[in-house]
Amino acid sequence: MIHSDLKSRDLIAANWKMNVLPSESQSLAFSLCDLAWSENIEVLICPPFTHLFALRDLRKDGICLGAQDCHEALKGPYTGEVSALMLKDLNCDYVILGHSERRRMNPHEDQNIHSKIKTAMASGLNVIYCCGESLDIRIANAEKDFIHRQLKKDLFELEADVLDKLTIAYEPIWAIGTGKHATPEQIKEMHLFIRSALKSQFGLQSNVVRIIYGGSVNAANSDMLASIQEVQGVLVGGASLIPDEFKSIINSFNQRKN
Ligand code: PGA
Repeated sequence: MIHSDLKSRDLIAANWKMNVLPSESQSLAFSLCDLAWSENIEVLICPPFTHLFALRDLRKDGICLGAQDCHEALKGPYTGEVSALMLKDLNCDYVILGHSERRRMNPHEDQNIHSKIKTAMASGLNVIYCCGESLDIRIANAEKDFIHRQLKKDLFELEADVLDKLTIAYEPIWAIGTGKHATPEQIKEMHLFIRSALKSQFGLQSNVVRIIYGGSVNAANSDMLASIQEVQGVLVGGASLIPDEFKSIINSFNQRKN
């Protein structure tokens, strides 16, 4: 059973990207999550679309299910696309939107993210919205301006009453899949910056938005991440395919409030 007050718990989200076969998905999902249900954390698995049907009953075991993207339209002539309502019908709780890999692969992605977020939320999904700067932007010390522009374009026109469906993943692009995570100081600074930008735009209602970190999260750095008060969970790529790694990450966050 899933606790009703989801946002009060830290989110440990697995992004399998384009890995794992559908036939392997159930055994991997269960081996990742010994400790799925906890008062302190919420565990989420985001497999490729093709695996969602096999995993549609994960919620019975206390694990949330999510997808890695959806289309901005509810339905229609969009060959090869997947709608938010289809995801909801397969028991998805979440969808990741704006991941830097999708922004890189699709030149129009940046223009569509705001519409995707609205459609996903209207379909009853929670959204993990990804933002983050490239290495060039970080070297030029322009990361805050860049993230502010992303938030403004993608989020600031949302109605405040949907903010409880929003989780923001701060994922510096230079840390994704590189083994080089951001430093605790950089992470804290950016989380505080995002929190204050939300507060300026939406006021106190923005307190319900959860802000998590992603980028080379693994068992070796999860205690450090869990020690940063502003970090309300993690989005995990590579290490979410390795049961011992992912379980250690879950444990780091599960223990922080004990
Ligand atoms: P990584 O990926 O953990 O492999 O760096 C994170 C992500 O892309 O969400």
